[in-house]
Amino acid sequence: MSSSSEAELLHTFKGIPFTTRSSPELLKSLDTFDAREDDVLLVSYPKSGTHWLAGVLTKLYNTQVTITSPIEFGDISQLEELNKLSSKRIIPTHLDYNMLPPNFKNKKCKMIYISRNPKDTAVSMFHYYRDNPNLPTVDTWTAFLDLFLKGNVVCGSWFDHFLSWEEHEDEKNILFLFYEDMKKDLPKVVKEITLFLSLNVSDHDIQDICEKSSFSEMKNDTEKENSDPTHTVCALTSNRKLIFRKGAVGDWKNYFTPKQNIRFQEIFDEKMKLSKM
Ligand code: A3P
Repeated sequence: MSSSSEAELLHTFKGIPFTTRSSPELLKSLDTFDAREDDVLLVSYPKSGTHWLAGVLTKLYNTQVTITSPIEFGDISQLEELNKLSSKRIIPTHLDYNMLPPNFKNKKCKMIYISRNPKDTAVSMFHYYRDNPNLPTVDTWTAFLDLFLKGNVVCGSWFDHFLSWEEHEDEKNILFLFYEDMKKDLPKVVKEITLFLSLNVSDHDIQDICEKSSFSEMKNDTEKENSDPTHTVCALTSNRKLIFRKGAVGDWKNYFTPKQNIRFQEIFDEKMKLSKM
């Protein structure tokens, strides 16, 4: 990674690397952000299926809802824009639990955390680093994996992020979802989401929503620009076309060498020893 581009593109706030698309002033002001009781947070570490879940969520409501930009995206004026929205807000974020504006916690807003096998997340993020001009350059997969395992990537350590949220898994207002479960049985996960959000959606409509939320449908929609190409739920890009790459489980096997897999597993076992995962 070239250090000059890294310095231009990333900065660190409370020990976590952010892109310069998240201004320090905005990050400092998050603590005072005014949440609304009916806000729904869509929380993820990058590359965990955030856009997929956002696509599903928007289709579930028959009242007006707005999927906003990520709360940590932009400059300070972004928070005012969010405050001005009159419709119900679904607010995406890659923040770890400790950095979340306290108001969301105090008001017990509903939060959905989506997670994904960190090995697939790492591979997906590697491609994102390579294709996304807002992120520093990485030369090789080996170099990227090293950064990922050290938490020297945007949004910091996958392990710290996951653990910060997992600690709150049992709270009634937080729903934990896994990308792999969505791949295995999307209607089942969508049903779970409707129960959590107290939405009345028929099984027939759930089936229809799942069909419209398949990888190929969502990718096509983006290519045909049926969806707004400038609106992403990721603070790291404004280009939706960078999102829909492969959409598979287990792509890590095409990248990890046996040695890298052992190293990953050792770090995983150590960091996650208190996790239920
Ligand atoms: P890959 O890079 O492995 O293909 P995020 O939205 O958090 O940035 O996550 C992006 C990842 O989710 C990408 O993974 C992308 O292809 C995958 N994805 C997006 N929409 C999907 C869908 N409808 N079904 C399956 N995977 C999807």
